[in-house]
Amino acid sequence: MKILVTGGLGFIGSHVVVELQNEGFEVIIIDNLSNSSEKVKDGIVSITDTQPVFENLDLRNKESVQDFFKRHNDLSGVIHFAASKAVGESVENPLLYYENNLNTLIYLLQEQQKIGKGNFIFSSSCTVYGQADEMPITEANSVKPAESPYGNTKQIGEEIIRDTCKVSKNINAIALRYFNPIGSHDSAKIGELPIGVPQNLIPYITQTAAGLREQLSVFGDDYPTPDGTCIRDYIHVVDLAKAHVAALKRLIEKKNKNNYEVYNIGTGTGSSVLEVINAFEKVSKQKLNYKIVDRREGDVISAYADTTKANKELGWKAETSLEDALASAWKWEQKIRG
Ligand code: UD1
Repeated sequence: MKILVTGGLGFIGSHVVVELQNEGFEVIIIDNLSNSSEKVKDGIVSITDTQPVFENLDLRNKESVQDFFKRHNDLSGVIHFAASKAVGESVENPLLYYENNLNTLIYLLQEQQKIGKGNFIFSSSCTVYGQADEMPITEANSVKPAESPYGNTKQIGEEIIRDTCKVSKNINAIALRYFNPIGSHDSAKIGELPIGVPQNLIPYITQTAAGLREQLSVFGDDYPTPDGTCIRDYIHVVDLAKAHVAALKRLIEKKNKNNYEVYNIGTGTGSSVLEVINAFEKVSKQKLNYKIVDRREGDVISAYADTTKANKELGWKAETSLEDALASAWKWEQKIRG
């Protein structure tokens, strides 16, 4: 079965390509290399011993998308990652984010609508919940007004898919709301490659430990949590990748109950920033240089998933511990700096 993975050379996309190929799917990657490199393909090949087809296409070009679907009219599914994901940049340049994240989605769905059928997996985010009133967060929690244009593209993206599925009954879609993806493949042949100064906690930690950054700033220790730092649900990227394969199979095997479904993808466990630092120090056997600074604007206090729905309906569960996930991130950082 042939699966299109857009953004398949990115951090999460590349791990999904590996899991798909491990399961015998034939993969076609579309990536415009805006935040990735063709070298990632070599990592994928060296893990799976299988060469994915790669097309350097920009999905913002509608004609290219139409042409691609003409050439590949036998797709069993589309997993759509290609999107911009930096919160701060989205505030600076909202139109880039709306164009990049929404036009591409619309063009892909239009092609499935033309064919009259299709299986579609969408990368959504726990950011759609904002600061939820109760923990853990179930899919029934309300969607809160987005804090950034990036977050808004995930909310609007979900609405675009939901509305399309209402009228196109043979399009089957699943939105996966990721919590915080971290780590890398155990082989350290693929992993996260942040451009410039990382904004996310784990790459900042590993770069500090590797000596690229002087010191980690912990954004606030006066939150109403047990140790005062924010709580998140950190999920290993390989576990997350496997959730995509499970979701895709649910659609291919027609096990879905509705033609648009939503799942939380996390571990179900919340960890504070200080707990993450302690776990990192333990696995890396290094002291991390950090200091407590002011809160970062826009941070929610706490977000961790209730994963019951995904566990039951997708038959999937996160298996990697926080320590193992951090160890994989550290192994990757050492490899790319080595
Ligand atoms: C952020 C985005 C979220 C996006 C996700 C993608 C915000 C408000 N949210 O999630 O929309 O889907 O990235 O990866 O930007 N921290 C530090 N020091 C640092 C970096 C982070 O203390 O240098 C803390 C943060 O305050 C937070 C936790 O670490 O409590 C995790 O931060 P981060 O990795 O940026 O993820 P989120 O903010 O949860």
